[in-house]
Parts: sequence; C-alpha cells; structure tokens
Amino acid sequence: MSFEPKIVAFLCNWCAYAGADLAGVSRLKYPANIVPIRVLCSGRIDPEFILHAFRNGADGVFIGGCHPGDCHYIKGNYHARRRILLTKKLLKEMGINEKRLRLEWVSATEGRKFANVVSQFVEEIRQLGPLEAKK
Ligand code: FES
Repeated sequence: MSFEPKIVAFLCNWCAYAGADLAGVSRLKYPANIVPIRVLCSGRIDPEFILHAFRNGADGVFIGGCHPGDCHYIKGNYHARRRILLTKKLLKEMGINEKRLRLEWVSATEGRKFANVVSQFVEEIRQLGPLEAKK
C-alpha cells in the first residue's frame, strides 16, 4: 500500500499563495497532498500552528513566504526565518525529523518554482514515511 503524505502549507497571501495560484492557473502539475492555509504574512506563523498541524495528523509542514526584502510587512519573513530555525530545533528535541518542516521563498510570479518545491517536499516526506506524532 502506498503512503500519501498529508502536508499542511501555510502560504503568505502576497507571494507564495499567489505563486500557488499562478501554478494552478498555468496548469502546472503538483501533488494534491497539500492543504493550503492562507496567512497574511509568513511572520504570522506561530510555532504553535506548526506543532498543532503535526499533532493533528500532518506528516509535513510547508511554509511559503516572500523573498527576503520583499515582505509587505517589512520584516515578517525575517521573523519567520528565525522562528522556523528554532522550531526545527524543537522538533529535533521531540524526536521529529526537522526535514518535515520546510521554509521556501516563492514570489507571486514563481508558479513553476512553487510546483517544483512542493513536489520535491512531498517526495521527501513520502521517503520519510508517516509521522504518527500522536504516538
Ligand atoms: Fe509575504 Fe511577509 S508579506 S512574507
């Protein structure tokens, strides 16, 4: 039986979400394992959101934000980058492979990049197998 990972994707409204939209409009293919959640800025993503996703069955969490220097709230993506690094350390402490959390910068014009990074991430999580965080 093949394993289909569940991926929660927090996407910044102004860049990554628009990039995902462009990928869809351009009919680029990427796996349907992604559950997108639109946030106004990657800086809004609290580590608790990530842990909540893992606790509730996500096998991986993807964060998409604007490129450094392009955040519509000036420093939100810099805050996100620091938080994600700390959250990765926390995951490691908890015995969860830090590769299950990924941060990528995707602009509104990068539909192809979005499709590529998401496809890669889904494949990586598929290789890691199910998380079963509840155990
Ligand atoms: Fe996109 Fe801040 S507005 S990361």
